[in-house]
Amino acid sequence: MPTSTQSDTFPLAGRPVSRMGYGAMQLAGPGVYGPPKDRDTAIAVLREAVASGVNHIDTSDFYGPHVTNQIIREALHPYPYDLVIVTKVGAVRGEGGSWLPALEPEDVKRGVHDNLRNLGLDALEIVNMRIMGDIHAPSEGSIEKQVTALAELQQQGLVRHIGLSNVTSTQITEAQSIAKIVCVQNHYNLVQRDDDALVDELATKGIAYVPFFPLGGFTPIQSSALSKIAQTLGATPMQVALAWLLHRSPNILLIPGTSSLAHLRENMKAAQLNLPDAVLAELNAIERVNAVH
Ligand SMILES: NC(=O)c1ccc[n+]([C@@H]2O[C@H](COP(=O)([O-])OP(=O)(O)OC[C@H]3O[C@@H](n4cnc5c(N)ncnc54)[C@H](OP(=O)(O)O)[C@@H]3O)[C@@H](O)[C@H]2O)c1
Repeated sequence: MPTSTQSDTFPLAGRPVSRMGYGAMQLAGPGVYGPPKDRDTAIAVLREAVASGVNHIDTSDFYGPHVTNQIIREALHPYPYDLVIVTKVGAVRGEGGSWLPALEPEDVKRGVHDNLRNLGLDALEIVNMRIMGDIHAPSEGSIEKQVTALAELQQQGLVRHIGLSNVTSTQITEAQSIAKIVCVQNHYNLVQRDDDALVDELATKGIAYVPFFPLGGFTPIQSSALSKIAQTLGATPMQVALAWLLHRSPNILLIPGTSSLAHLRENMKAAQLNLPDAVLAELNAIERVNAVH
């Protein structure tokens, strides 16, 4: 498994963003539905993230829905000039918070306008076309219709750059025949490495790979091997899981999600955690252990 020298930034749509970003999904209520328990803390988390050097925030108008974007706007608007807000379209929320595909051209258009309105922007810097084939794993099938709809909104000046989420290599190639693709956001972390080849393929093309669920998602990664390694490093398991991603490939940009100031501070420190080769080898072996059992 290749490792990379940790650099602090990577160009995202031509803008150097800190590789330690922030994912805003946890700022909505339970199940990413409705308002958060503590709106003041949600605002404080966003402000502290930016004050700590985060200039890449991931969001969507279907978080809440609308709630997360409205909190981002309240916390950070007018936005710092160097902040890259990446959003996504492709789903809507049903009764009780279910996640429903919204992949028709009209849905894509409505999704972009929802994001513009709730973020308080005239143009969105990057919009990921989130494909809903299988909710957590990509599945093959043409995405031409959705990407074309997004490209039309780009031509109208409402979207500056286009990314993809939950996609296969074949779908990325198809999308690239329609528009320039600046980032890919798929499920990937220390114990979920189905995209290993894709990470490397995108690295050679200079395209950012942004793992969602970098800490394991709603149930953060639990591994006795990870905990043991973290203990020897004087770090927490979550810090080591993030540092492993930063070492994995220079095109990996992190968007760990948290609603907690303490967790935000802990996660930010992971960018300074150096993992010696022997430790990387042990971490790389965790997946194989998990695969065996
Ligand atoms: N494209 C997609 O389909 C897609 C799908 C899912 C997510 N995303 C994006 O990816 C971002 C990251 O994913 P995620 O937030 O779902 O999952 P994640 O970052 O893997 O993990 C978030 C979970 O870990 C907890 N956590 C965070 N820091 C921690 C720490 N230091 N110690 C212990 N627990 C910690 C959080 O709880 P606390 O709030 O208590 O800290 C939360 O339960 C999201 O915010 C969203 O922007 C995209």
